[in-house]
Amino acid sequence: MCGIVGYIGKNQAQPILISCLARLEYRGYDSSGIAVAGDRIKVFKDSIRVNELAKVLPEIEATAGIGHTRWATHGEPSRINAHPHCDCTGDIAVVHNGVINNFQQLREQLIAEGHQLVSETDTEVLPHLIEKHYQGNLETAVEAALLEVKGSYAIVVLKKDEGKLVVARKDSPLIIGVGDRENFVASDVPAILDYTNRVIYLDDGDTAVITEDAIKVRHGGAEVTKQEQQVSWSVEDAQKGGYEHFMIKEIHEQPKVIRDTLGEYIALAEPIVDFKALSGEPLEDILFIACGTSYHAALVGKYLIEELVSIPARVELASEFNSYHLPLRGTGIVAITQSGETADTLNAMKRLKGAGKKVIVINNVVSSSASRLADQTINTMAGPEISVAATKSFTAQLMALYWLALSYSKVDISQLDNLVTALRQLPRKVQEILDNEAVIVECAKYLSKYENVFFIGRGLNFPVALEGALKLKEVAYIHAEGYSAGELKHGSFALLSADTPVIAIATPDRTYEAMLTSIKEVKARKSPVIALVEEDDVNIGELADMVITVPRIDAIFSPVVNSVALQLLAYYTAKHRGCPIDTPRNLAKSVTVE
Ligand code: G6P
Repeated sequence: MCGIVGYIGKNQAQPILISCLARLEYRGYDSSGIAVAGDRIKVFKDSIRVNELAKVLPEIEATAGIGHTRWATHGEPSRINAHPHCDCTGDIAVVHNGVINNFQQLREQLIAEGHQLVSETDTEVLPHLIEKHYQGNLETAVEAALLEVKGSYAIVVLKKDEGKLVVARKDSPLIIGVGDRENFVASDVPAILDYTNRVIYLDDGDTAVITEDAIKVRHGGAEVTKQEQQVSWSVEDAQKGGYEHFMIKEIHEQPKVIRDTLGEYIALAEPIVDFKALSGEPLEDILFIACGTSYHAALVGKYLIEELVSIPARVELASEFNSYHLPLRGTGIVAITQSGETADTLNAMKRLKGAGKKVIVINNVVSSSASRLADQTINTMAGPEISVAATKSFTAQLMALYWLALSYSKVDISQLDNLVTALRQLPRKVQEILDNEAVIVECAKYLSKYENVFFIGRGLNFPVALEGALKLKEVAYIHAEGYSAGELKHGSFALLSADTPVIAIATPDRTYEAMLTSIKEVKARKSPVIALVEEDDVNIGELADMVITVPRIDAIFSPVVNSVALQLLAYYTAKHRGCPIDTPRNLAKSVTVE
């Protein structure tokens, strides 16, 4: 949450900062601001989006600057609370992503010492602390200030007349982009892809001094050498490529994402994970930890492990994990996170690591915090996902989970062969859904008139119902509940009426007959039913008000095709309702606070 950028180099800073910030808006977008260093520090900020900020900025000659796009935690979105924040002299400006836990105490102390703080933010203590410690050297002042700070931060500091940026990170992501007589700083790689694909990943506790032609990274007061890495993501990956929104572009990328992710695993010489080699204990059960959409992938994973590997699996919300018992010996622990920066997931991983457990992470962002914390990473190959609502990263996570379950599978070899063959057909099946979206567009138009919707499924498709509901809530602002079809009658039937459509996931598997019964029960309560069925289904057409068909596939892979259909349903419903699809209100793609 919150995106930060910095630039120093041969070019004008202002347009570069704006274009980098625009690519980081998925991290938060309730305010934006920049500061540039001329003969003095000039700050422009407000509770407006980056494109609006760009329109009101005067042209300023400056070749160094910092920028921020905010997801408010301390204080409402307003001009005063927007970043950058300055010290009393106005000579030091700071942008920050993270949370300063002891800011109240620091604030009181600074005020008692004569500093004037004007915002409600935790961040504002930082420029004042740096001002307090400044004795002619900015990096020393920043390091001294950070010694007083408890919490998480990625910061970029700009000071008048210094000709450098000073950056630091602890528990919030920060990368340096390396250019030719220019250097960049950003929360995430997509921000800088227009300018460079050469990246230095900073670690927790690192600070760096960045000038036009030098990057000096320090840790614990001493200089350290960091390897530069080339990122494989391209500029096109981070652009809309002719689509109206990133969400629909990312939905359409899924056949490729499935191919790329599977290709990566199929090419591996080693098993995808060797739990026994990792922990020294035979694998007895699996614990999954995740948040949001990744949590729904984990719920599918639980089903796959129990079905194919015949060992128990449990799934915990990362934000709840502190309240639960640590797993015993023999538990394979798998965290799932697209960004690798979700604070709740990182905290749960840290607790497990602190107790000496080995943790594997399924992750989409190379060198993320989660990946560096984990004992082993299973990379998904979804490429940068910009739209706040996760789509292609969910499908890529499912691929990782299928491969994990298949590699430990207890099914016989011919059944395994059939499953792998079906898995390889998935890109084509998903493409068929994308090529035949007209019915989904019609259903979306119909759905867009309603304010309350249920999604129901059973077994493997119960998590798909949860994910379908989450997508509709996030992007179309329709109250939607995902329910196990069998559970709906235990209370929630009271809400069924002609004004409450029910989306029933009824593709064939061993729960099919029970789904038919559930649909009949729902129809008897007058709720309109949109049924998701397999092509050639003969039973449901006459029961349901509208039908979305998906291609035939082995039941175990139905979550993939069904989810893609529901992603399209959410997207087109949001479009009919005129919602800001890629940047829904109040949300952020990467939630780096608890
Ligand atoms: C945020 C996003 C969700 C995402 C969740 C977990 O809430 O808006 O789309 O599913 O974080 O993110 P992660 O990066 O850990 O998968």
